[in-house]
Amino acid sequence: MTDRYDAVARFLHWAIVLLIIVQFSSAWSWDIFEKGTTGRFVLFQFHLYSGYSILALALLRIVWRLTHRPPPLPAGSSRLVEIASHAVHGLLYLAIVVQPLLGIVMITAFGKSLGRWPGEAHELVADGLLVLVGLHVAGALFHQFVLRDRLIERMLPARR
Ligand code: HEM
Ligand code: HEM
Repeated sequence: MTDRYDAVARFLHWAIVLLIIVQFSSAWSWDIFEKGTTGRFVLFQFHLYSGYSILALALLRIVWRLTHRPPPLPAGSSRLVEIASHAVHGLLYLAIVVQPLLGIVMITAFGKSLGRWPGEAHELVADGLLVLVGLHVAGALFHQFVLRDRLIERMLPARR
């Protein structure tokens, strides 16, 4: 298969994957440090700036996606696989925009006045994102090892 996503789409995909790893690593480890300590502060700052970067890259990515056609799905993909992959991709795009926005709402005075729900929503979307990424990676593995159609190469750097 030679059709790939273009270099910008591939770069944005993997940059956002790395930053999402930063988000979960920071959020899951800052409790090691007491409130008010430098360690906790630094992890939280990583979470904020990596989160803002995800929002910026996600918006750029969506604009790029709307103006640049992705390669067509491999011939012979079933209608069901097509619908399922589009649904997961759509929800992933939604999650990488909504999640940073919820984070931003949470840290404002307005967000704090809303009580617990912005925090709970941020937690819920984080869980949802994990489920979506699980399905997404399962899909990639299914293509790689069952269908053996090398779909994954569409999102990897071109081989010389
Ligand atoms: C895609 C981007 C993001 C992801 C995947 C993400 C993920 C997470 C996760 C997994 C938690 C821990 C939730 C829990 O179990 O309690 C968390 C907590 C938090 N996040 Fe994010 N986050 C993102 C962006 C942001 C942004 C942009 C901000 C702020 C501007 C932010 C602010 C917070 C805050 C304040 C908490 C602490 C909640 C608490 O402990 O009460 N997040 N985030
Ligand atoms: C961690 C968060 C991830 C997010 C948010 C994400 C998001 C997305 C989205 C939205 C698309 C659809 C692109 C489009 O057509 O518009 C996509 C495609 C793709 N992703 Fe991910 N992805 C993530 C992780 C991964 C991982 C870990 C892998 C590797 C197994 C992967 C492999 C792929 C591949 C191969 C495609 C291309 C599918 C095709 O050719 O139709 N992704 N990803």
